[in-house]
Amino acid sequence: MTVLDYLRGVRRLTGTKEGCAEGDCGACAIAVAQPGAGEQHYQAVNSCLMMLPQLDGASVLTVEGLAGKDGALHPVQQALVETDGTQCGFCTPGFVMAMFAFQQAGEKASDDAIHEALAGNLCRCTGYRPIVDACRKIAGKPAGFANVDLDALKQTKLDGEYSSEKERFFTPQNVETLLLVLRWLPDAVLLGGGTDLGLLVSKERKRLPAVIWTGQIRELKEIRDEPGALQLGGAVTYTEALPYLDKAFPSFGALVRRIGSRQIRNLGTIAGNIATASPIGDTLPCLIALEAKIALRSEKASREIPVEEFITGYRKIALNKGEFIASILIPRLGAGQQFFVYKLSKRFDQDISAVIAAFRVEIAGGRVKKLRAAYGGMAATPKRAAAVEAALTGKPWTQETLSNIDAVLAEDFTPMDDQRASAKYRLRAGANLLRRLQMEAS
Ligand SMILES: Cc1cc2nc3c(=O)[nH]c(=O)nc-3n(C[C@H](O)[C@H](O)[C@H](O)COP(=O)(O)OP(=O)(O)OC[C@H]3O[C@@H](n4cnc5c(N)ncnc54)[C@H](O)[C@@H]3O)c2cc1C
Ligand code: FES
Ligand code: FES
Repeated sequence: MTVLDYLRGVRRLTGTKEGCAEGDCGACAIAVAQPGAGEQHYQAVNSCLMMLPQLDGASVLTVEGLAGKDGALHPVQQALVETDGTQCGFCTPGFVMAMFAFQQAGEKASDDAIHEALAGNLCRCTGYRPIVDACRKIAGKPAGFANVDLDALKQTKLDGEYSSEKERFFTPQNVETLLLVLRWLPDAVLLGGGTDLGLLVSKERKRLPAVIWTGQIRELKEIRDEPGALQLGGAVTYTEALPYLDKAFPSFGALVRRIGSRQIRNLGTIAGNIATASPIGDTLPCLIALEAKIALRSEKASREIPVEEFITGYRKIALNKGEFIASILIPRLGAGQQFFVYKLSKRFDQDISAVIAAFRVEIAGGRVKKLRAAYGGMAATPKRAAAVEAALTGKPWTQETLSNIDAVLAEDFTPMDDQRASAKYRLRAGANLLRRLQMEAS
């Protein structure tokens, strides 16, 4: 059962709305602080994509919990009233929760920060200007925590397993327990943030007989910022990875800020993006261009495999039964190497790529010493542009060298027409991104 179905259907807390049931509109946003968070650390998430046991031990705030016990509006709600930031009101609870999370994180009233905080919420009638004004009004002000007992959150004891007649849900706390459950139920589905998998339940109304949530597995939450490589655990979310990516690969960090919305990034994991193996999965071209490897683990063995080899076909991966992604290892840039990634989509926010191109390039003496180029949206899988790499290596790093690059890219890819872009657009844009790279990396 999704958290949204539970809130509305079982608890009759109908303030939280269902707009799209697929993570796009933000009407279902709630604020969640995970166990151990302790401090005032609520994140806005989409309740339509979350499975109920993902709240194991967490503190949850819905819009009903924001007003004071005397009924006084929370400052965020008051700000929306004062700026006329609501009309039909359908989107308002979701905006309120996104703004509450923004306020309690102590973020600044900059346009960029407000834009990022609200990009996951759609309003069809008020228009965004008054809502943005409300957000600006509350930024930097202390957040009221009317009805929340944060000390209780620190002490919560977790259950580990939830079951009903036909369904079981496990929330292991360490890898040892994960391996035990996998030995017992090798066909159990691994759940990261649920931003891909959750759609099976919220949209297709499927029932999953056995689910193992990775979100509380200590070892899979680890991030190691080591000299040779950045190592991200198999349950690290986009939000958790962002500061490290920003530091090591700023262009990758900027791309991650365009994956879904903040509500999606608070839930979604990089391992989930890899395992979904979508031809337009945004992290995949980056990881391929950066020569990243995946550490896989099972009860019997551990192995490492390049991301490039892990993706074996359209939405197919080289994951054996009983195996899971333990971590992702991204080698740091060597001396002289630069990394750029470009995402083309119809909207800037909350949209999947029509074309995505990632490049790791090394220029020496005005020539291309080494280039790794990987594209998404151009074939059934994200993949390297081998002909382009070969054609450019050793050549002068100039726009002239790229004059015929469209034809070379066409040797690498035969893209298709779909609602996101035509094949012709994809090829032309893919080649032009190389021209953009030449300008930026010169
Ligand atoms: C509104 C919306 C916008 C989105 N926008 C983008 C976008 O801009 N770009 C983009 O690339 N994607 C986007 N996505 C897709 C999705 O958010 C990402 O693919 C995300 O990274 C999935 O991660 P997750 O943890 O939520 O995966 P889940 O849904 O939990 O799982 C996805 C798959 O990964 C497997 N899995 C999870 N963890 C492991 C593990 N440790 N080991 C082995 N298998 C594992 C699961 O079994 C499942 O098959 C969007 C989704 C939504 C709903
Ligand atoms: S109902 Fe639209 S994001 Fe959840
Ligand atoms: S107020 Fe009507 S959808 Fe936003």
